[in-house]
Amino acid sequence: MTAPLAGSLPDPPKHVAIIMDGNGRWAAARGQSRQSGHQAGAGPVRTVLKAASNLGVKYLTLYAFSTENWARGQDEVENLFALLTQYLDSEVAELLQEGVRLKGVGDLKRLPQEVLTALAQAEELTAHNKGITLSLALSYGSRAELTAATRDLAIKVKAGEIAPSDINEDLLAQSLWTGTLPDVDLLIRTGGEKRISNFLLWRIAYAELYFTETLWPDFGEEDLKAAIADFHSRQRRYGRTI
Ligand code: FPP
Repeated sequence: MTAPLAGSLPDPPKHVAIIMDGNGRWAAARGQSRQSGHQAGAGPVRTVLKAASNLGVKYLTLYAFSTENWARGQDEVENLFALLTQYLDSEVAELLQEGVRLKGVGDLKRLPQEVLTALAQAEELTAHNKGITLSLALSYGSRAELTAATRDLAIKVKAGEIAPSDINEDLLAQSLWTGTLPDVDLLIRTGGEKRISNFLLWRIAYAELYFTETLWPDFGEEDLKAAIADFHSRQRRYGRTI
């Protein structure tokens, strides 16, 4: 960690990624359905986006629907997509006003048409915004992402567009669904579990990891600030000695 100048604040993490876990348990503790837990989870998305932007974070990536989530009950999957569509449709004006650039990352072609339409519209409308980039990981899994990138590169080699020796870390990184995102600086997981769950494996190579017991619907601005304060207490060495 670089010591900040006296009186100045240390630089915020440029890219914060969040595994938003705990909606189901939050709802169960209140005798409510999983659906209402996810609904309650939309609140912190708004709060955390605003807080992250105000704190100077440039990229916020949220794990909204994983490749593995397709295996959940049909009702829950449909409800999640309805919620996402509703979020995209209802928030786009606010995103525009706040200068947020929205992107979807993942195996997007698997998404239902209404989500794709809402996503495409939000992406297009916010494409020229210069503020924080909010990436929603949808139908996302790192292994599928790396497999797809490898397949794309193999096709290019076969077509003679590139030589095998052209494949390096930069080209592989650019070929990922997260190709335009920088590496993650801080990865937060709410809900008490301490695992990565196939999220952004390439991009978190040197991320600082922060786990909190707080369930996602209860996560707010102060929790984000606490995670960032913890990030500033770490010494990032990237495999080197200092
Ligand atoms: C994990 O909690 C959460 C999800 C699978 C979905 C995340 C979705 C949201 C927060 C909805 C709102 C998102 C946006 C972008 C509007 P879980 O259901 O696995 O919780 P549990 O571990 O307590 O069962």
